[in-house]
Amino acid sequence: VIMSKLNDTFVLGEQLAHHLGIQRVIIIPGDSGSHTQVLKSMGEELNRVLDKLLPLGSSTIAAMGGTTMAAVATALTPQLSKQRQLLFVPARGGLGETMGIQANTICAEMAAHSSGNYRNLYVPEDISPESFQSLVGEPVVRSVLEQISRANVVIHSIGRAKVMAQRRNMTTSEIQLLEERQAVSEAFGVFLDVHGQVVYKVPKIGLQVSDLDKVSDVIAIAGGAQKAQAIQSYMKIAPHQTILITDEAASEMILRDK
Ligand code: F6P
Repeated sequence: VIMSKLNDTFVLGEQLAHHLGIQRVIIIPGDSGSHTQVLKSMGEELNRVLDKLLPLGSSTIAAMGGTTMAAVATALTPQLSKQRQLLFVPARGGLGETMGIQANTICAEMAAHSSGNYRNLYVPEDISPESFQSLVGEPVVRSVLEQISRANVVIHSIGRAKVMAQRRNMTTSEIQLLEERQAVSEAFGVFLDVHGQVVYKVPKIGLQVSDLDKVSDVIAIAGGAQKAQAIQSYMKIAPHQTILITDEAASEMILRDK
């Protein structure tokens, strides 16, 4: 019974990868939206995927923030650093979120669990364009930005537009705009509608969604029935080399809508 269940999940993954137009989809049984154990298993899967795809030698891994990333970060293991030098960098500048779910924190956490190194990007929110320019000119900031641009792996999640707008304390008029333009998903600071059209962009330094094409491996981690529509929307613009680690609940919902 277990074998046939595993086989079903594998076939479902292939169908979903084909439907979403990406390289691969790995499906973890259950609903990570309601069971934290499922999220933990998604983290273990991330660890396995990284161990398989990371080349020996040096790798720079750019990581995004969020609660999913924070949860999966703790599942990485020191095994990943065997014959490898890993450097974790935050994919984008601070997004005004609480400390525990900022990309800087997640990089430190991922490095601690995988015996790797990390760099932080210290660029505060809401600074004047002049201060921004001088900060970006600082050697320490510039060197982290260079490392981000050289990342060979990117790990990120996908959020629901409404949830993300609230979490980032966007203004009433911005939220209204997102509603009018029917935004359903957010990733890398871009808000998308169901067709994958960019309806709003949050300008930030660091990795832009358009930079993903030149990154060898992109891993997206997002699950839960509630995120099904957001996942589907973002996958319309995801680069083909994306590997999605998701759960059964989101997968079934996406394939049902097909
Ligand atoms: O804010 C960083 C971020 O990675 C967003 O780009 C993404 O939409 C979100 O976090 C996902 O957050 P969560 O895992 O909490 O749903």
